[in-house]
Amino acid sequence: TGKVAYDPGFMNTANAKSAVTYIDGDAGILRYRGYPIEELAEKSSFIETAYLLIYGELPTADQLEEFDQMIRRHTMVHEDFKTFFNGFPRDAHPMAVLASSVSAMSTFYSDSLDPFDPRQVEISTFRLLSKVPTLAAYAYKKSKGEPLIYPRNELNYSENFLRMCFGFPTEEYEVNPVHAKALDLLLLLHADHEQNCSTSTVRLVGSSNANMFASVSAGINALYGPLHGGANEAVLKMLTQIQQEGISPEDFMEKVKRKEDGVRLMGFGHRVYKNYDPRARLTKKTADEVLETLGGNNELLDIAMRLEEKALNDDYFIERKLYPNVDFYTGMIYKAMGFPEKMFTVLFALGRMPGWIAQWTESVQDPDRKIGRPRQVYIGENERHYPGA
Ligand code: CMC
Repeated sequence: TGKVAYDPGFMNTANAKSAVTYIDGDAGILRYRGYPIEELAEKSSFIETAYLLIYGELPTADQLEEFDQMIRRHTMVHEDFKTFFNGFPRDAHPMAVLASSVSAMSTFYSDSLDPFDPRQVEISTFRLLSKVPTLAAYAYKKSKGEPLIYPRNELNYSENFLRMCFGFPTEEYEVNPVHAKALDLLLLLHADHEQNCSTSTVRLVGSSNANMFASVSAGINALYGPLHGGANEAVLKMLTQIQQEGISPEDFMEKVKRKEDGVRLMGFGHRVYKNYDPRARLTKKTADEVLETLGGNNELLDIAMRLEEKALNDDYFIERKLYPNVDFYTGMIYKAMGFPEKMFTVLFALGRMPGWIAQWTESVQDPDRKIGRPRQVYIGENERHYPGA
């Protein structure tokens, strides 16, 4: 009957000892397995970074080749998944479809569910990394009412995904190399972020010895929310609304500061970063380059930059240490690639997959592992009696 600490939102409670990702929110530092995000963004690829997160070290050239080949080889999903997809309404949000499909992987791939069998964990790891892009692309095709496209193993991860989303079975599809490179970078930047809402969810569900598919599908549902992964979609909606209604960024900022109708400057603020999010710096640069090359909607980028400039010089934001986060610029890049808003969070989920897997695996191997079971502060009625009892 020791004292219970009341800590809503787990502001001061560590749920894990972890060796995966380091963040110093005051200094704006992010490192995966010790490597600064800026160096990985410049030198590495999404697949190599996935290996680093999951296995703890950068791969040798041979290890990378083998890992990449394994991922390319497992991209096909069971044909019966099509029946499953056909059951969803046409206007289903692709995040809901993705979460359901990953949950259903426990039924299609029931031979790799034991969290304590390293071989099965490895098979589930490859199944998730390889098949989730295929399922995500199916979710997109389903929302468009277009025929599903099978994966092609000679293409790399990003190229394959873009082709499965934007290609047609009846014609050849040429992947735009600028899109593929930008997508690879954005996936890498999203690959892990220590104990955020979805990752903590993956760990909590996993702590009951639930299998990797079940745990990760719960993480996808956590990511779905607008305060987490859904923020990139919300940012673009906000920018488009400002553009279409002709509101000046200045007037919009006043509305945010008055907290009118709970309006927030989406893509700003972070539980941990009280400084510029280093990922936002990198996505801002990519947005600039991609929109330049693709002739995307520069007006939205202009609005975003004006909002950022105003915010960085405004006492409301300075006092609260609110800076752009990773989501502030990503939506514009995804839109320039041709993705509709509904798909933005799905792209975040693809990127976060290695992080969820690495953290789930770390938790399974943790000698301090315990089922997650928070306490509460009871504020309800004292004992009272049912009429006549
Ligand atoms: N616009 C305006 N005011 C804000 C914002 C914002 N974006 N974010 C925080 N504030 C204010 C908030 O109103 C509060 O003010 P006061 O002290 O007067 O009550 C203060 O700043 C502290 O905010 P909080 O909500 O207590 O902070 P939190 O750590 O609980 O929330 C957050 C963090 C990310 C949920 C929040 O900053 C937010 O809602 N941002 C907008 C949504 C967003 O961009 N989310 C993406 C996060 S990064 C990617 C990811 O993790 O998925």
